[in-house]
Amino acid sequence: MNGLQILGTGRALPAHRVTNDDLAQRVDTNHEWIVARTGIHERRFAQGETLTQLTVQAARQALERAGLTVADIGLCITATVTPDYLTPSQACLIHQELGLPEDCPAFDLSAGCTGFLYAMETAAAMLPRMSRPYALLVGGELLSRIVDMDDRSTCILFGDGAGAAVVKTDPEAPWFCHLGTRGRQEVLWALGPGNHPAYLHMDGQEVFQFALETVPALARQLLDKAGLDKDQVDWYVPHQANHRIVASVAKRLKVPLEKFYENIASYGNTSAGTIPIALDEMVEQGLLKDGQWVMCLGFGAGLTWGGALFRWKSMEER
Ligand code: ACO
Repeated sequence: MNGLQILGTGRALPAHRVTNDDLAQRVDTNHEWIVARTGIHERRFAQGETLTQLTVQAARQALERAGLTVADIGLCITATVTPDYLTPSQACLIHQELGLPEDCPAFDLSAGCTGFLYAMETAAAMLPRMSRPYALLVGGELLSRIVDMDDRSTCILFGDGAGAAVVKTDPEAPWFCHLGTRGRQEVLWALGPGNHPAYLHMDGQEVFQFALETVPALARQLLDKAGLDKDQVDWYVPHQANHRIVASVAKRLKVPLEKFYENIASYGNTSAGTIPIALDEMVEQGLLKDGQWVMCLGFGAGLTWGGALFRWKSMEER
């Protein structure tokens, strides 16, 4: 079994903050409703920034924190549903901007908000066959591109942002991962045939129920695989879709909410960006300590879900 170790993280958010009051000037909503139903206070919307700029900024920071250069990278995967171009992939644009080596394959992966988990497990499987032992994993979105700013049921939820991690495989590193898919296009979708403009459509209540059905079960599945008790996990890092979902998952697992890292108040849901952004903030705040058990939990469009349970190794110990 090849485990993944995170060597460095990075993030990049657009400068422009959009508050709930800002949105209330355009649609029939208000700050109190949004906070009570979602936990979101503000989000960032790109104003001129491209996804390439954000993802490259996050990637550069992750490389720097890992103490590596582009010449060390043997694999580049980007999880996104809002790339700058349909083709070439977002990963190829990052490859070009950073000047990654030609024998470093680069490709995008589309698994909605679960994308970063899918990217991690893909890297764990592929890296041992690559010419270099390090992978650059990026998750990021400009969801403001596909959100209908006149639809109050979606425009309040989403934001723009990117996160990145430089990882290596280690056969000694504990790594427990589970990925799931239940193909259901009609629950959450954007840009189907003849669908212009390409707005995101979502059955919010169905997504809510889906999350509560799958995420606690996913967490228990990972604990079983690892032979750990829920209380032995030091940090749960959930996809940031809605504070109420996180609180319900914590309650169902009987885990104190304080063990769940949350930043949805500041950024809203940045889809494939939420988990790497959260990890980078946690590193910066010194929350992740050597030897701690960390469980990342994601769910999203597809429908997809995925989780990874691993032991944190502090950057100094590497
Ligand atoms: N402001 C004020 N009222 C609103 C708003 C708003 N922004 N949006 C909806 N309402 C109204 C509705 O019209 C409805 O009014 P009605 O009772 O007169 O018909 C009422 O509020 C209740 O609407 P519900 O949809 O039942 O509200 P709910 O409590 O379900 O909250 C929400 C909606 C926040 C979207 C919730 O369902 C949710 O968070 N679901 C999960 C969504 C999610 O996580 N999506 C992303 C996951 S996958 C991914 O990340 C891509």
